[in-house]
Amino acid sequence: MLKLGVNIDHVATLREARYRGRAHGEPCPIEAALVSEAAGAHGITAHLREDRRHIQDKDIFALREKISTRLNLEMANAPEIIAIALKVKPHIVCIVPERRQEVTTEGGLDVLAAEKSLTATRKKMNAAGIEVSLFIAPDTEQIAASARVGAQFIELHTGKFAEVFSDAKKRKAELKRLVDGANHAHALGLRVNAGHGLNCNNLSALFAVPHLEELNIGHSLVSRAVFIGMKTAVKEMLALMKKYRS
Ligand code: PXP
Repeated sequence: MLKLGVNIDHVATLREARYRGRAHGEPCPIEAALVSEAAGAHGITAHLREDRRHIQDKDIFALREKISTRLNLEMANAPEIIAIALKVKPHIVCIVPERRQEVTTEGGLDVLAAEKSLTATRKKMNAAGIEVSLFIAPDTEQIAASARVGAQFIELHTGKFAEVFSDAKKRKAELKRLVDGANHAHALGLRVNAGHGLNCNNLSALFAVPHLEELNIGHSLVSRAVFIGMKTAVKEMLALMKKYRS
């Protein structure tokens, strides 16, 4: 069964827009996580960015304590965040590239360029009982490097697929890259997740990609929640995801 990890970052984005620096504020990302779980989500994903633009340290500790599914902590491969991850002990970390100027995570991790330090981080996490995923573009070299790092998972970056979705020719080409990438990763023993830019419209086309275990979806769910509520938005996505056959 294809699992859904609900990314609750943008609930915190809304809170920070009004209550930055305060101990209180709404909406509460922890409440969003609990509602998502009650609606059937298989896990909760949150990104503790170095600039703390949405999720705060206290959110991550509270999520770890309060949720009953799995916590997937998205993080940069940076010493400060690594130290926090080792304290929080999420079930899994997904290492992502981070640039301060970006609106959201743009592009995949350059695993080739940082193979040594990613291997060291992977070892630290695994020694603490935390699984490791690497957020990468469906690129042959990056997939091979992810296997050498010893990561348990890769998360295929679906941002490009989502961006070119309305152009049939470009969509086909990007889907092929994702299909080939998933097959390559699976053959190397990597488990495969995917995420970024997914929504109710583009989801079913992604089902051509084999070996997917979990999708991490945030922006679209929080956007839908404005009109139909988080519980219904999560249930709607889960209903669509039931059609996936690897
Ligand atoms: N996966 C990763 C690694 C991400 O960085 C993000 C964005 O925070 C997502 C999934 C979710 O993307 P979106 O918010 O577009 O659904």
